[in-house]
Amino acid sequence: MSLAPGVIRDSIVDFLRTVGRDASTDEIIAGIQIRIGQVPSSSVRSYLRLNTPKTFERTSRGRYRLKIDGHSSDHASVRDGNEAKAIEIGQACLYHADCFEWLENQKPASIHAVVTDPPYGLVEYTAKETAKLRAGKGGIWRIPPSFDGHQRAPLPRFTVLNEEDRRELHVFFKRFGTLVARAAVPGANVVIASNPLLAHIVAAAMAQAGLELRGYIARQVMTMRGGDRPKNAHHEFEGVSVMPRSQWEPWVVLRTPLDGRVQDNLRRWKTGGFRRPSADRPFGDVIRSHPTPATEKRIAAHPSLKPQAFMRQLVRAVLPLGEGTVLDPFMGAGSTLAAANAVGYTSIGVELDKHFFDLATGAVPKLAEIPVKASDASSL
Ligand SMILES: C[S@@+](CC[C@H](N)C(=O)[O-])C[C@H]1O[C@@H](n2cnc3c(N)ncnc32)[C@H](O)[C@@H]1O
Repeated sequence: MSLAPGVIRDSIVDFLRTVGRDASTDEIIAGIQIRIGQVPSSSVRSYLRLNTPKTFERTSRGRYRLKIDGHSSDHASVRDGNEAKAIEIGQACLYHADCFEWLENQKPASIHAVVTDPPYGLVEYTAKETAKLRAGKGGIWRIPPSFDGHQRAPLPRFTVLNEEDRRELHVFFKRFGTLVARAAVPGANVVIASNPLLAHIVAAAMAQAGLELRGYIARQVMTMRGGDRPKNAHHEFEGVSVMPRSQWEPWVVLRTPLDGRVQDNLRRWKTGGFRRPSADRPFGDVIRSHPTPATEKRIAAHPSLKPQAFMRQLVRAVLPLGEGTVLDPFMGAGSTLAAANAVGYTSIGVELDKHFFDLATGAVPKLAEIPVKASDASSL
């Protein structure tokens, strides 16, 4: 297998940045093989040796971590984090940056809510996999069978995660939770898109990072997941579905610990609850939705674009008094920011991939203008 120059080094950097600590050479080899497939362990060892001390630091025999100020120049603009210039669109501020570095650079207690849809496979949004996606080659991306003469858009393959991937996901969310807990004010809602196979990992890891699990919001939507008969034995087991056809998407609801009672927190920080859709109706945890409409996908061709009708209800609810800043650290094409602009909130989005970042700068104002049918916006 021949890899482009720098791919192994960049994968090591990416792995060490994700774990956020030093790691043994064996852990690094396993971590990068998840990202780029089988590579000779001798190549990984020699990349580590060759790039130490410039990019990596040896913490003890056979253990390395990322050097704090050492990074390769091809990532420089991304890694400038907070120094990266923001683009302002309405009340939204968009950053092209790695959200982990961006969060590290934020003042403590400067964010009032987080609404986000993270990259679950950890590999599907790496440069290698997005290149395959853009070339229409699939890779980690599952291309659902076309029907009604329409080619379906690619979806990430969550079910291919193995034990090691799940462990990495836990590490990823624990680190993410720790950074969010620091940047958010007390009582901030943190709402994270998930799926029935992985929501428990997100909840457990974020709780270990110091956030409180407050429940789940069910986005009721018919997905393309589950319901299939056993592979290559469809006829033999006609009456069997391997797993239930999924008709909902769980959004994990967490909160940073309160500063005193709810009323104290609301007065001091403007957080600590959910905004009611109307005086006589509390915000509920089941929201009827539908797949993202074609009109919105034409504006923002992102494989994980969320629909405005749903996002506006959710984003409006996370600031109980309608005051403060909503953060989406995994912005994608900007559906959270567009929803925030539509309901009149201040927001910040961070996106690592330049192509998606550029997509968001064009899509946020257009998505924010999309009219939402009254029947699709029950709690607005
Ligand atoms: C599931 S998508 C979010 C899509 C979004 N919900 C929308 O409606 O467009 C996750 C996004 O996070 C981005 N991402 C992955 N790692 C990141 C990181 N470390 N910092 C910032 N963005 C990242 C990916 O490029 C991808 O666009």
